Amino acid sequence: MNAPLRYTRGAIALHWVHALVVLGLIGWGLWMADLPKGPERGWAFGIHKSFGLIAIVLIVLRGLWRLRNPPPPNPALSPLERRVSNIAHRLLYVLLVAVPAAGLTSVSFTKYPLKFFGIPLPKPGFPDETLNAIFSTTHQWLAWALAALIAAHIAAAVIHMRRRDGTIQRMLPK
Ligand code: HEM
Ligand code: HEM
Repeated sequence: MNAPLRYTRGAIALHWVHALVVLGLIGWGLWMADLPKGPERGWAFGIHKSFGLIAIVLIVLRGLWRLRNPPPPNPALSPLERRVSNIAHRLLYVLLVAVPAAGLTSVSFTKYPLKFFGIPLPKPGFPDETLNAIFSTTHQWLAWALAALIAAHIAAAVIHMRRRDGTIQRMLPK
């Protein structure tokens, strides 16, 4: 088999850092949501919001990088697989923007200050319980949809690994 055509080193680095941050945010988000009201919950929410802001920076960088570096073709895929993978990747990108955007919008309508690891940041919006509830629910539903799509994405990666068709190597450094 010919050597696989790889993503650029920048795309590979951003993919894995972003994957780690997003998987961490999902796990942490589900854990913190069940904490009782009190200082531990406040601390846990603060960490989630700070890493959530990092996820926003990462998706912006990834989007800009992706625009200038389109992925190389993958000859291992059938036309149908190529179409399904294109749609799935587009949907991933949409959710990777929409989930943190809804999170940030929801916290913009609380009375709590927005901080990045303790550093206060300017916060748009104003305290409003209804708007907070709408965007908070949206954030939660979209996060579930993202988690489901990531599970399918990882399942697809495992299938390619078992086929040994070089798809995984495309997203790994040489
Ligand atoms: C163990 C976990 C993961 C594995 C093994 C994995 C593997 C891969 C591989 C091999 C590709 C390239 C597919 C191709 O050749 O077209 C890819 C693309 C992609 N992955 Fe993952 N991934 C993982 C987790 C994640 C997570 C958690 C996210 C969400 C942050 C994610 C988002 C994406 C996106 C958006 C693409 C499309 C890249 C593009 O075409 O611009 N991945 N992944
Ligand atoms: C890719 C980025 C993000 C992911 C994957 C993510 C994921 C999650 C998950 C899984 C939950 C728990 C949902 C549930 O209880 O069912 C959650 C809750 C929460 N997230 Fe995020 N989150 C992200 C970004 C953000 C950002 C940027 C903020 C705000 C700056 C934020 C603020 C919150 C808050 C306040 C909650 C508690 C529930 C609520 O009031 O909405 N998240 N998040």
